[in-house]
Amino acid sequence: MCGIIGVVGETNSTQAVDVLLSGLKALEYRGYDSAGMFVAGPEGGLVKAVGEIVNLEEEVTSKGEAFAGPSGIAHTRWATHGEPTVENAHPHTDMTEQLHIVHNGIIENYQSLKEGLSAQGMQFSTRTDTEVLAKLIGAHYEGDLLKAVRSALTMVRGAYGLAAMHAAHPDEIVVARLGSPIVIGVAEDAHYVASDSSALLPYTKRMVYLDDGDVAHLTATSYHVATLEGTARELAPETIEGDTEAVQKGGFEHFMLKEIMEGPQVVRDTLRGRLLSDNAKLGGLEPLLPEITSLKRLTIAACGTACLAGHTARYWLEEYAGIPVEVELASEYRYKTNWPEKNHALLAITQSGETADTLAAVREAKELGMLTLGVVNVVGSTIARETDAGVYNHAGPEVAVASTKAFISQLVVLALITMLVGRESKHLSRVQSAELVDALTALPKAIETVLKTAEQVKAVAEKYAQYEHMMFIGRHSHAPIAAEGALKLKEISYIHAEAYAAGELKHGPIALLDENFPVLALAPHDSVYEKTVSNIEEVKARKAPLIVVVNKGDTEAARLADDVIEVPKVHPLLQPIISVIPLHLFAYYVGTKKGFNVDRPRNLAKSVTVE
Ligand code: AGP
Repeated sequence: MCGIIGVVGETNSTQAVDVLLSGLKALEYRGYDSAGMFVAGPEGGLVKAVGEIVNLEEEVTSKGEAFAGPSGIAHTRWATHGEPTVENAHPHTDMTEQLHIVHNGIIENYQSLKEGLSAQGMQFSTRTDTEVLAKLIGAHYEGDLLKAVRSALTMVRGAYGLAAMHAAHPDEIVVARLGSPIVIGVAEDAHYVASDSSALLPYTKRMVYLDDGDVAHLTATSYHVATLEGTARELAPETIEGDTEAVQKGGFEHFMLKEIMEGPQVVRDTLRGRLLSDNAKLGGLEPLLPEITSLKRLTIAACGTACLAGHTARYWLEEYAGIPVEVELASEYRYKTNWPEKNHALLAITQSGETADTLAAVREAKELGMLTLGVVNVVGSTIARETDAGVYNHAGPEVAVASTKAFISQLVVLALITMLVGRESKHLSRVQSAELVDALTALPKAIETVLKTAEQVKAVAEKYAQYEHMMFIGRHSHAPIAAEGALKLKEISYIHAEAYAAGELKHGPIALLDENFPVLALAPHDSVYEKTVSNIEEVKARKAPLIVVVNKGDTEAARLADDVIEVPKVHPLLQPIISVIPLHLFAYYVGTKKGFNVDRPRNLAKSVTVE
């Protein structure tokens, strides 16, 4: 998820540099590993910088007051293709360096487009998909920018929200939307474009929201919207209320809730370009498949929620890919005795890619001569760079300290890895994989169904907000999900929450239970359902208040509970991904009921880069 901002203004009425910098700062929550701007006109030019927006601001300031103009486009990057470097930062240009574009999204067929353009003699200086887009539009430019953008986009597959400018037309911007948001701001003496209206509120409250397939042509005094095919669309501006922060949160009260609600889109983004009809397609791992399928052991090392994703995937990798797995807390792995072993690899799971303990575990494994793999969300992060290979989440920036959408994305990536390795090692048949592909394709809709029950989960959560303790239980691949529910409740509401494999209760923890110690039990209709129901009966007999998360229509476990949360039944491998959504919502609503800052819980940081 990147941030785009653009302005085309009346000469001497608009200072593009100020608009672009303040707009980028408003969009920084969408990603900030590099940034850049193009200011049109004789005193303008192209400036880029790596890192936060303030670095770009310093670069622009160093150019002095002379660097100016009424129109320009800018971009803050969340890398998906290519490391965060100045070269990879947007805007990207065509071969003449007259055309400039900024882009948010993923061009799926950029490799084949690149081959075609290279055959026409075009050179590329980066590995980004956006540079391919810029050169493609340049190849179609014959003096009319709008026509060039339209004609080029008919060849593109994937998602884009883009803005284009050309030095020969300094008073025009062409924008296009397919799958990534684009909004136009309408003012008397200027028109604006941005990824979301938060960047435009200081200049106008009159917004025009483009729809997928729209292309628009902006000047200082006009905007015209049409479909990609050229059919004009009359879109009147709507006046919006709300402040910048409200818009950054997409209208949600907190980033945490926004990110939980982004679940369906995050699954689509994680899966994009990675599903065949009967297998997964993971370019980063394919060259290593023979080595991975001959592993005698796989150690998964991670921290916190990421480690719980590893614990969940262990069941899948062992059952469906035939790989013996051990899951280690990275903070323990790095200090325990490890020794070199053939056919033994380490898989690091980390949203930030900067967690000190996980990085140390990767370095320890490398010293032992192990193959190191990564499942990482932040492109170009240290762990992404230091592991031998891996898979990026493409979940977009996660702003809330509590990891929710990244956890969902981690589980989806781990399911893809399970399928790829399972097929290669013949543990998974083609039919079984095709079923899993269908289940993954249907997963966003299943998550939408769960999210529709948010108000019911809120009502249940508010009933339990006053308790001081809570226990979460589950079996098999739902035991780590119970642990994730407990972790979220702890870190968001500060309630003492514990999790146990349900079969463990009778070995001690059940002594804790009474009417003041509620229990949340995960009881999907899976291979251990009956066992879980008998554990629930043990809980009931101790008068503990009881919440159950069950499949829709359940009667056995539901009959025993004080509160029931129903979720759809999906492929058994994917059921944990569905079951965790109500637990994230539960923690969120308990935390907000208690009036805590759920986006920034006390004592915690988003990325633990210290030991
Ligand atoms: C998740 O809710 C926590 N904030 C925390 O446990 C987090 O998952 C852990 O610190 C690992 O972070 P990473 O994924 O960036 O490595």
